[in-house]
Amino acid sequence: MNLILMGLPGAGKGTQAEKIVEKYGIPHISTGDMFRSAIKDGTELGKKAKSFMDQGELVPDEVTIGIVRERLGKDDCQKGFLLDGFPRTIAQAEALENLLKDMGTSINNVLHIKVPTEKLVDRLTGRRICLKCGATYHVEFNPPKVEGKCDNDGADLIQRDDDKPETVKNRLEVNISQAQPLLDFYDSKGYLVTINGDQDINQVFEDIEAELGGRSL
Ligand code: AP5
Ligand code: MG
Ligand code: ZN
Repeated sequence: MNLILMGLPGAGKGTQAEKIVEKYGIPHISTGDMFRSAIKDGTELGKKAKSFMDQGELVPDEVTIGIVRERLGKDDCQKGFLLDGFPRTIAQAEALENLLKDMGTSINNVLHIKVPTEKLVDRLTGRRICLKCGATYHVEFNPPKVEGKCDNDGADLIQRDDDKPETVKNRLEVNISQAQPLLDFYDSKGYLVTINGDQDINQVFEDIEAELGGRSL
């Protein structure tokens, strides 16, 4: 099962990825999470990525493709994987096609989680995350059981640097400008499925399950 989750910032990719991974047992590969973890650890990769992320810009393709190539080469990706937030440019999508061809496999589904743009700002500015386990919350729409603490491990929840209002605007603009050509790319290959992301979190997941269950994987 080789899946891609697409959608604008705040559409719910990470939130649905947690549920997909739990049900289907495939590894969750989020380039955003990988960059954040590199920044936290102070690695060379983190230093390269930070200035772009802080401005809501995309990290250069060669850097991003490099980390995905390395990650897909690991053993746990043999049985399938869930890509979240990659590819985000046509160059990345083409590189992925070549990588998968070399691995003797291909994409099964591209799930596009669609949410009206005007709803995204509230989702992003109210988001809180756990850096320890990657869980995602929202102060209003998906609050933790204890305010400010992760349900899974009790770690402190934080706000992402790029969820500050001044960065959110540019992030949305950058991603909107990249989105359509990629959707067209996957639509032309017959992989694209649109999921209504403007519903309750569990309802969105039910729609995803219905979509995946009905296909040969
Ligand atoms: P990344 O971390 O991927 O951020 P993003 O694409 O901006 O997406 P988000 O993580 O913000 O949103 P999401 O769709 O995961 O939403 P979530 O589930 O959290 O990338 C960050 C940066 O890294 C990029 O800007 C770029 O600089 C760099 N980068 C990453 N990949 C790259 C690439 N391929 N190429 C180049 N650069 C790259 O949900 C959001 C909030 O809404 C949460 O609070 C959640 O609780 C809430 N919520 C979710 N679903 C619902 C619902 N149905 N109803 C109500 N609330 C909901
Ligand atoms: Mg995310
Ligand atoms: Zn946690």
